[in-house]
Amino acid sequence: MGIFSILGLCLLTHFFLSLCFDFSILLFHGLLLQTKLPDYYEVWMDIACNLTHLIESRTLRDVVQKMPELSLHHLHSHRELRLARLALGIITMGYVWQEGQMAPVLPRNIAVPYCLLSQKLCLPPILVYADLVLANWKLKDPNGNIEVIFSLPGGETCSGFLIVSMLVEKAAGPGIMVCTSIVPIFHISTLYSSSVIGMNQWRNNPMLPNGLVYEDISDEPVLLSGGSAGQSSSIQCFDALLCVQHSDETAAFLAHIREYMPAPHQRLIHSLSGSLRDFIMSCSNPDLCRSYNSCITALLDLRNYHINTVAKYRLCTGGVGMALDSRGTGGSNIMGFLKTVRNNTQNALIAEPQEM
Ligand code: HEM
Repeated sequence: MGIFSILGLCLLTHFFLSLCFDFSILLFHGLLLQTKLPDYYEVWMDIACNLTHLIESRTLRDVVQKMPELSLHHLHSHRELRLARLALGIITMGYVWQEGQMAPVLPRNIAVPYCLLSQKLCLPPILVYADLVLANWKLKDPNGNIEVIFSLPGGETCSGFLIVSMLVEKAAGPGIMVCTSIVPIFHISTLYSSSVIGMNQWRNNPMLPNGLVYEDISDEPVLLSGGSAGQSSSIQCFDALLCVQHSDETAAFLAHIREYMPAPHQRLIHSLSGSLRDFIMSCSNPDLCRSYNSCITALLDLRNYHINTVAKYRLCTGGVGMALDSRGTGGSNIMGFLKTVRNNTQNALIAEPQEM
């Protein structure tokens, strides 16, 4: 794409953004996920809808053990597959953690359909962000307010975490639309959020040091990472397009969590990775550099906001906050990790050429 087209597109950014925003609202509503499965899967839906009650009454494990092993043959559309995976994912998480201590083996009546379904969707057999956030919402009213399909223990607070994360994704919509429209300069300042989510990880989780055995699927325990908003593909899309370079351990961790994103999201991130920054630097055009830097600054602000939110969360939650330090990034200090990611973002800023 020539420099004039790019400059033209820069000038039209706001126009595009308003268009994209409208479009993303449509997309958001148009992409409403499935909230029901065929009657054959009633037992999965019933358990998933009553998860909190079953965990509190400590009956979930018994109920799951008595569950019939269902076939996947009655699931037809992608949406049904995603909803079924979400239901089995939360039942699995509840089953494993019901007693606050892990169950080392997931019984075959859930392990087999869950693993087959996950294989079909190219996702690991564990709850990921794409399940709990991207597939777990529905419209609450005609005004566009949303609510979760399945709530988790933790009540409104937990649902609030999930909904805020979904709203972050919705806010990222215009930016992603611009990325995919190959408009190289965009603003993502709408990405700000004051929210939350951070779940236990099976990998590096001291309470589950050996992972989980999926009965009749794996004889050896499988170690997987638990869901986290770090698995949001939106932020990695922005990094990729803007050519933010992450270093060694940090890059390795971000690449690792990409494996927990849906395959089309991984492909999008890959296809956005290019040489936009080199191209802009080679143009020596002050407007172009400024536009690029404003995008980086918005991403930087977002990461600073996130760091502050995590710090407040650690302060407010005390012990939970302490646990955050030893989890997630292979045991390294989480705040150190987040600050490195932030600093790498800052390093992408380009020195603006002098106006002639
Ligand atoms: C109280 C709220 C939050 C806490 C405590 C929290 C905690 C964390 C932690 C511990 C990590 C390190 C990586 C990991 O363990 O997975 C992380 C990374 C990350 N989080 Fe959050 N988070 C919160 C809210 C959010 C929200 C709402 C989003 C947006 C969807 C988000 C997006 C990310 C991203 C993209 C990363 C990867 C690092 C980066 O790209 O900067 N977080 N978060």
